[in-house]
This record gives sequence, C-alpha cells and structure tokens, in this order.
Amino acid sequence: MVVKQKQLSKYIGNELEYVKQVLDSEKPSATSGSWTQSLEQQFVERFGINYAIAHNSGTSGLHTCLRAAGVGPGDEVISPALTVVMNSFATLYQGAVPVFADIDPDTFNINPEDLRKRITPRTKAIMPVSLYGLPPDMDAIMEIAAEHNLTVIEDNAQCLLGTYKGRLAGTIGHMSMFSFENSKHIGIGEGGMVISNDEELALEVRKNAGIGYKNLTADGGRVKLNEDPFQDPNYKRHDCLGWNYRMTELCAAVGVAQMERIDEIVKRHQQVAQLYTEVIDGCDWLIPQQVPQGYTNTYWSYAVKYEGMAALGVPWKDFYQTYKNMGGDGFYAAWSLPYQEPALDKLGYGTQSCPVAEEIQPKLMQFKANYRDMELAQQKSDALAKTIEFFQG
Ligand SMILES: Cc1ncc(COP(=O)(O)O)c(C=O)c1O
Repeated sequence: MVVKQKQLSKYIGNELEYVKQVLDSEKPSATSGSWTQSLEQQFVERFGINYAIAHNSGTSGLHTCLRAAGVGPGDEVISPALTVVMNSFATLYQGAVPVFADIDPDTFNINPEDLRKRITPRTKAIMPVSLYGLPPDMDAIMEIAAEHNLTVIEDNAQCLLGTYKGRLAGTIGHMSMFSFENSKHIGIGEGGMVISNDEELALEVRKNAGIGYKNLTADGGRVKLNEDPFQDPNYKRHDCLGWNYRMTELCAAVGVAQMERIDEIVKRHQQVAQLYTEVIDGCDWLIPQQVPQGYTNTYWSYAVKYEGMAALGVPWKDFYQTYKNMGGDGFYAAWSLPYQEPALDKLGYGTQSCPVAEEIQPKLMQFKANYRDMELAQQKSDALAKTIEFFQG
C-alpha cells in the first residue's frame, strides 16, 4: 500500500499573524482595509512597474484585461493551444472568439510563426502563456503585436519571477496576470494580480474589477475615501459597468506573507526540478520542457514529454501506475486542448486544428515541483529513477 506522506505546512511565515491583524481590525473588505494595497505595492516594487490590481482569481484578471483592451463581440483573441480553458472562457465572457495557435515542440509554449498565421482583421489581442513556469518568446510576440496593433496580455498564472532575456515575465506585455490559486507559487486559496505600466489600461482594469466605482484610480483600490459625500443621498457612485472581482483582505494578508518568502519558494521549485533533471538525464524517452538560453523557468510543474510508448511499448498509464507503486506521487496529464473540451465544442469552437499540440498533449506528464520538504522531493525523484530503471532494464 502506498502511504501518502504529509507535507510541511505551506504557511510557515507571517500568514497567521497577518490574518489575525485583519480580523482584529474588523476591516476584511478590500474597500476599507490596507492589506490588498500592501500586496499590490509588493508587486509594483518587485516588478518595477507602475500599477498592480488585485483580483479574486487569475481568470477574473484575464477578463478585466480583455475588457480593458476593448475586446468585444466578434473580436478574436489568440491563445496557445496548450493551456487551461480559462483563457478561452475569459475571451467568451466578452462575447469574443477564442482562436488557438500551435505550440513549439520543445518549449511547449506558443509558436510565434504559427501565431502570425492565425491573425485576421478581427484579431484584437494575444494571450501568451508562460506554460509550467517558462516564459514564451516575448520579443517575437511583441513584434507581431506591434505590426498588427494588437494588445498583449501575458498569462503568468504559472510563472512568478520567471525571466526572459534579463526581464521579468510580466513586464513585457501591455498587461499581465498572475494567479494565486492554491497550487501556484503563491497560494491563497483563490486570487490573482494584474500588472501594467499603462495608466489608462490599469484604470480600466481596476474599474472593471471594482464594480465601476467612479473614484477608483489606477493605483488606488479604496472606494470610501471620504465618508461625508459617500453618505449623501445624491451621491453617484458608479460611472461604468464593472464586476465584483475584488480580493478580500484575508486573502491579501496571506498573499503579503507569501510574497515575503517568494524568492525562497521559487528557488525550491527550481531545486526540485533539478532533482528530476538529474534523474532523467540520459533517458531518451523522457524529454523535459526545454529552457532556451536566456530564459528562467520557475517550474510551477516539471513537464516531460513521454515517449515510452514508442521506445519501449509502455503505455502512459502503465508508467504512471508504476511510478506510484515505486513511491512516486500521482502526476497530472496535461489538460485537454481547450477546443477539445465539450464546453467549447458546444459553442461551435471545437473544430480548430493545432497538430503539434494535439500530438504532444497526450504524452505530457506534469511532475509535482511544489514539494516544501527537499527530503520528500528526493524520495520522489528516487522513485522516478527506480521507475526508469524498471522499464529500461
Ligand atoms: C495558465 C493558466 N491560466 C489561467 C489560470 C486561471 O487562474 P485562476 O485559477 O486563478 O482563475 C490558470 C490557473 O489555474 C492557469 O494555469
């Protein structure tokens, strides 16, 4: 029987203390407290950008960015074919059309040449994804976007502090989103952040996420700045349509504590990845995501293309089960391509074609990289070594 070991706590910093402070203040709403602002300020400083707007999820962040970019009914938004469905859903929330570009077979990220081919006169925005923690080829993407006057919204849900040619992922596109959903580098339950250097876009994002309160600013999320006018019967609060996508103070307090330890958290993901890399080095049927020169991968997850079926006749599921029997943790396959999901098929978007992504997706294995205990990570990479040996002989 495989016994599941309990991991060390994820929340070993100031999380509890900060949550207590929020509760003691009796101001747990983003409209009156200060923790959300503190988390935003941490992003502004860390990324050296002008604006950060906290959201209640990464998906809502993608939605507000698309609306800020002016994406509306009939417009097309291009995402990579290998990603979660949320990029497509955010596109659909705006009544726009999700279009998919194929991926690079080595990095698994969007292929700029294929992206170029998918552009039509109706294309309005591109949503490149830093898949598994590795930024895509942003220079090429920004060049294409500039040629066609398109807005680039970086999806860095899986990539916090990844770099591309010396720049932090998130500082290159017009807007960028990060996710704090529990499996991410920073996990606060649910949450997200949008960053941008553009005041107009940031203000739009803030108002879209903040129920259209008229006194919101690009850098300020508090709405009750002065009680007197706010309590006046004639006071008009909202000057545009918006959603309630605000982050709560409780979540922000956890996020602030996690951000204080972000370098250590990212480094641990990279150290776990290094263990796997050493184990699969020399195995020509487990091919890891390639990291081009000048990029840093933050390894939300360690992705490997499994060629064991072709090389040894061992199906994906047999490898999966054997790894678990050897003491490894269950790992996820890559998500079905969004256009292969019934939700998109039902809406008439199921007939697109991205052959490279279709070929690679069923082969992918996403090994856990978020171990907090390096001893446990070592046990899992040992289990991987044993599994390879078992099949390779
Ligand atoms: C690539 C990518 N995009 C978008 C999202 C959506 O983020 P969230 O779960 O915070 O809404 C996720 C996370 O699940 C993701 O991995």
